[in-house]
Amino acid sequence: MFARAAVRALTSQPRYFSTTAARNTKVVVLGAGGGIGQPLSLLLKTDPLVTSLNLYDIRGAPGVAADISHIDTPSEVQGFAADKLDEALDGVEVVVIPAGVPRKPGMTRDDLFNTNASIVRDLASAVGRVAPTAHVLVISNPVNSTVPIVASTLAKAGVYNPARVFGVTTLDVVRAARFTAGLAGVHPNDTPVPVIGGHSGTTIVPLLSQSVHGKGIKGEVYDKLIYRIQFGGDEVVKAKDGAGSATLSMAYAGATFANALFRGLNGEKGVVTPTFVESPLYKDQGIDFFSSNVELGVNGVEKIHPLGPLSAEEEKLLAACLPELKKNIDRGRAFVESS
Ligand code: NAD
Ligand code: LMR
Repeated sequence: MFARAAVRALTSQPRYFSTTAARNTKVVVLGAGGGIGQPLSLLLKTDPLVTSLNLYDIRGAPGVAADISHIDTPSEVQGFAADKLDEALDGVEVVVIPAGVPRKPGMTRDDLFNTNASIVRDLASAVGRVAPTAHVLVISNPVNSTVPIVASTLAKAGVYNPARVFGVTTLDVVRAARFTAGLAGVHPNDTPVPVIGGHSGTTIVPLLSQSVHGKGIKGEVYDKLIYRIQFGGDEVVKAKDGAGSATLSMAYAGATFANALFRGLNGEKGVVTPTFVESPLYKDQGIDFFSSNVELGVNGVEKIHPLGPLSAEEEKLLAACLPELKKNIDRGRAFVESS
């Protein structure tokens, strides 16, 4: 059933509230017909904290919705065709955005900017108009730029609340746990690894020194593990050979992060997981968005945790991350300013 194991690994409060205690959570997936959108919608249908699930895409969402709606969980599912975006957003509390094109071999996430920036901006603009108080979970790449695009678009509409906009970096956390567990010969649930920074190549900074089973990994094995976590996306793009990027593991990661948010919104305490949000941590260096451990609660972002002690290697990784991250964020911001 639902991905409870990873939720356990990612957050310090590992259980669901009972469904009877839960408030209603109405969710929309924008891009629900796609490679991520379909399995993500399926997993959200199995999440007991979702009461109503709207599926929107420029193609195929009514069919996906009809299919998923037969699953015997209590949530109501509705599909919306291309011209029904406002109806799909009506009354939702959580918006999940996996809309946009994926990479092909040889491309960077930044190469997706020209296509995905306007898709995400236009969807964010509709969110600002129809569901201005919704929490927005951004999956579309390049996340380092699309999150600032969502924030700036909502700000332009006068409805931006930094506690409600999240870049979903959970796939990096999932990969870090899986790869580290494989090396350490332990269960991934026992190997949570905080991953900070952004979501692309060298902006992904795994903090193995803060992981019980990761901190003993050194030398060449450490270097290879870091590279694999940072460039795990490339592994999938290469293996899919032109047919796209990670979809199934991303759906799992997206549903895991969404569940953590639902639990926080429900009043559960101590739900902590990395996510890319507006953050004070590097604002003095002109970097307004950063992923680090964030406590989720009834208002969305409750508390941004400090990074904690970093090893010398992690300081170096961070030094490489920051300038690239700043460039990506500035590009997103500039795009909305010039729109
Ligand atoms: P896909 O092409 O299979 O699906 C994308 C879907 O978006 C399609 O169904 C398409 O019709 C839809 N779409 C396009 N424009 C739209 C619009 N204006 N409104 C609504 N829907 C629209 O791609 P995918 O494999 O599902 O990947 C989607 C995005 O997620 C890509 O940008 C990819 O790079 C990104 N991604 C992010 C992560 C992450 O960790 N954050 C992981 C994997 C993929
Ligand atoms: C990933 O990390 O798998 C995604 O960001 C998709 C990609 O382009 O690699």
